[in-house]
Amino acid sequence: MRSVIAFNDDWLYYAGDVGADVPDSQFQPVTLPHTNVVLPHHNFDNAEYQFISTYRKHFRLPEARNGRRVYVDFDGAMIACEVFLNGHKVGENEGGYTPFSFDLTDYLNETGDNLLTVRLDSTERPDIPPYGNVVDYLTFGGIYRDVKLRYVELCHIEKVFVRTLDVLTDKPRLEIEITMRNQGPETGAELGASIYNADGEEVTFSDIWASVPGYSTETFVLNGFNLPQISLWSLDTPTLYSVKFWFGSEVQISENPLQFGFREAVFRDDGFYLNGKKVKLRGLNRHQTYPYIGAAAPARLQRKDADILKDEFGVNIVRTSHYPQSPHFLNRCDEIGLLVFEEIPGWQHIGDQDWQGITLRDVQAMIERDRNHPSIILWGVRINESFDNEAFYTATNALAHKLDPTRQTGGVRNFRGSQFLEDVYTYNDFSNTVLEPDFTPHLVTEFNGHMFPTKAWDQEERQVEHALRHARIQDKAVSLERVTGAIGWCAFDYNTHQEFGSGDRICYHGVSDIFRLPKFAAYFYESQLDPAIRPVIRPATFWTMGDCSEGGINPLVIFSNCDEVEVFFGKERFGQFPPDRAAFPHLPHPPFVIKGLSLLWGGHTYDDLRVVGYINGQAVAEHRISTRGVPHALTLTPDDTELYADGADMTRLVFKIVDEYGNRLPYTNQVVSFELEGPAELIGENPFALMGGQAALYVKAKREAGTVTIRATTPRLELAVATIQMR
Ligand code: GAL
Repeated sequence: MRSVIAFNDDWLYYAGDVGADVPDSQFQPVTLPHTNVVLPHHNFDNAEYQFISTYRKHFRLPEARNGRRVYVDFDGAMIACEVFLNGHKVGENEGGYTPFSFDLTDYLNETGDNLLTVRLDSTERPDIPPYGNVVDYLTFGGIYRDVKLRYVELCHIEKVFVRTLDVLTDKPRLEIEITMRNQGPETGAELGASIYNADGEEVTFSDIWASVPGYSTETFVLNGFNLPQISLWSLDTPTLYSVKFWFGSEVQISENPLQFGFREAVFRDDGFYLNGKKVKLRGLNRHQTYPYIGAAAPARLQRKDADILKDEFGVNIVRTSHYPQSPHFLNRCDEIGLLVFEEIPGWQHIGDQDWQGITLRDVQAMIERDRNHPSIILWGVRINESFDNEAFYTATNALAHKLDPTRQTGGVRNFRGSQFLEDVYTYNDFSNTVLEPDFTPHLVTEFNGHMFPTKAWDQEERQVEHALRHARIQDKAVSLERVTGAIGWCAFDYNTHQEFGSGDRICYHGVSDIFRLPKFAAYFYESQLDPAIRPVIRPATFWTMGDCSEGGINPLVIFSNCDEVEVFFGKERFGQFPPDRAAFPHLPHPPFVIKGLSLLWGGHTYDDLRVVGYINGQAVAEHRISTRGVPHALTLTPDDTELYADGADMTRLVFKIVDEYGNRLPYTNQVVSFELEGPAELIGENPFALMGGQAALYVKAKREAGTVTIRATTPRLELAVATIQMR
């Protein structure tokens, strides 16, 4: 039997490089995922996370070994480590974004206590990608992803690749490539796989006789599946199937059945096709880092980011800039139908042969880990924005094609005419438009970003222009037949080095702030949602009469997927307006740009804004903004009302100072203080001086069930209270 056991609990942590002579009592108990230091959300020095730390875990084997081998699997630790069991070194790893495993068996104490020690180097090592030159993001430190203990039979499944073929014909096929590793003498048995539909019913299986010579690895292909009618994986209906394996009488992968989907994803010269249908790609780049906790976000926060991208921002693709991201994030992309362009770690710099060797290992680890995700449609096998290097990139492309012949490659470049060794020409286009492609297929992988940094509390005109730049570029991308789509820079503001950003260690390039709370640009993306999903009506204004140049609000920009909008000033009706199809002829839902409204100085009374959206003549949505300018309420909203009491689970706790209609007051910087009662911890700055009228903390579970109450206070407003159950 194979068993995989979560190994995140009961670690001990010391923020230094210490030997066995330092007693456990000087360590701190922690649960993974773990950041080596909790930081403020900005205004810190990246040197603060750059140190060597020591993790220990005392354990007894949770199950008898019964002749099996026992491995420890790390999903990721930043950035290099050496691992010891009971004082013996079992392995080392370089690179913070891909998984690694070590065989513990030879040094295990099977009946007594064991001590696993990790010496983790989180310094920005120039010999490991992305480092060697400046980098526009932070890597942070810690064992920041999950760890598992895995028991396997001597002869066991090591790798699996599920390939769905001919899915658009009436004879779709399934091929499963299985790599068996035999750590014992020659053996042979039936090797099989069963396929289950989304309701958990077995729909088909295939098996073969597999003989595996002693002490070797051997690859087999199962292709005798008799597939019934299948449901395709698509953006609207992301149907997933699962597969379970056996070898002989023993189930080899029994828990967490592997998920996959039937879909055909291909970039052609005239566009990207999903299941034979052309889909224009509209996306955003995502960094995996969060305020306070670096990259050490548990499953719930990872999944939430995918939901924000798909449901709140309405995009259909995300680029995992600039490295492979959490399996939890990718699993959620599979579940909700969000396409992914995943790329290897790196940023503008190519190191020496050893450094390049780590990159080749990263290519392999990324593809072997992730090639079963239906959401992933493209591998990025070039260091983001690096110079041409024919030998290096010929090798990364060849390796990607060998490990996954079903997917195309891209390689993100930022200069025209660079050598095109991949299948898709992926280009960062900072021209503030979309240039006609030199090569096809062509995908714009970044735009905007540093060309127009914008804070959530910047003056309104800048925030509107920021949003309109995204709108214009997406409009242009739709217009160009030979451009498959555009992925904007970027989804969320992110922490960075002092050479980049606004000097406070943040790049304010997001369509939302670092807490994932929207700026107007996020409203533009949201407004491209199909109105059948929900009508969207978002005036891009704070509705103040003297904040913009020359006074008033001219033009009034509204992001909406409605056919028409009606605008009121208090009770007074200004008129009904169509979207600005002249300026945005290609977008499914052009912004409304309403010019020449004479407001306060046109003899009108200064009054609330009310915008009503119409679809097919019916009023379907409304938005109001107050003119009072006086804080109405402090709101406190957790994303979840229940957490797992596992010592690691977290949810975001959003707080805002709002007007009577729930709009944040963008220039409010009052101090908000928090008190928490019950079995949980608040992560973040407390008290917090608001910026842009909104921000967030995180609530982190302890290993105790119960009710958690959080109270937020600020002068002159009523107390706000939130409750979360820890289960
Ligand atoms: C690009 C780079 C991104 C980010 C962006 C800012 O050149 O690939 O990582 O730095 O610029 O606009």
